[in-house]
Amino acid sequence: MANPKHSPSVLVLFLVLLLLSIAASVANSDVFSKSLSPSALELKHEKLTHLHFYFQDILSGKIPTAIRVAQAPTTNTSSTFFGAVNIIDDPLTVTPNINSTLVGRAQGLYALSSQEEASLMMVMTFSFLEGKYNGSTVSVLGRNPPFNKVREMPIVGGSGIFRFARGYAQARTNTFNLTTGDACIEYNVYVLHY
Ligand SMILES: *[C@@H]1O[C@H](CO)[C@@H](O)[C@H](O)[C@H]1NC(C)=O
Ligand SMILES: *[C@@H]1O[C@H](CO)[C@@H](O)[C@H](O)[C@H]1NC(C)=O
Ligand SMILES: *[C@@H]1O[C@H](CO)[C@@H](O)[C@H](O)[C@H]1NC(C)=O
Ligand SMILES: *[C@@H]1O[C@H](CO)[C@@H](O)[C@H](O)[C@H]1NC(C)=O
Repeated sequence: MANPKHSPSVLVLFLVLLLLSIAASVANSDVFSKSLSPSALELKHEKLTHLHFYFQDILSGKIPTAIRVAQAPTTNTSSTFFGAVNIIDDPLTVTPNINSTLVGRAQGLYALSSQEEASLMMVMTFSFLEGKYNGSTVSVLGRNPPFNKVREMPIVGGSGIFRFARGYAQARTNTFNLTTGDACIEYNVYVLHY
């Protein structure tokens, strides 16, 4: 009687199963979607982080950090500058002094988008440089009427440390020069992430 361990039919069955499992794993790489447990991405406890910094919006001088790239033909005659669009790459500093430690940059744009009052539609990414936050970002999308005492804007997502981010940012004007348009804005950002 043949030893079942060495029987040819068992070996053939084993090889067929091996080939099927290889074929299945190759097919898997073409799968469009599947559910994952959050632990597969090492997502454990959601944390709340508070970030505090000053946003330096410089329109004047040789190296402005906010530049007008577009406006409507009627923007000049609008008391709310309706239709103007600025692109920004604004330093985020640790104190109101523009020469204090740079903790990140605010890159994106704001558009004057109200006919009733001066109000900005903010579409920007805070890109951080400081310590463990270096390379991580949060994305802000919201309404910012700059003459209000406190403006609140949603944090709609993030990257790096801030993957799966949600939260809000509160902006308060620290200084605003009416002649040049230069402004220093205090930001408090509250963000939930893993
Ligand atoms: C509107 O503003 C632009 C850009 O600042 C300027 O070149 C233009 O002369 C202005 N037009 C009027 C009618 O003031
Ligand atoms: C920041 O540094 C620049 C260049 O060194 C200098 O011209 C400016 O006065 C400084 N500003 C402040 C507020 O310290
Ligand atoms: C942030 O990361 C960049 C690129 O990895 C590196 O060149 C830079 O020195 C870092 N900055 C700080 C402040 O750690
Ligand atoms: C606004 O900026 C102008 C030009 O740099 C300067 O002369 C003036 O003192 C500034 N005003 C305030 C309130 O800082």
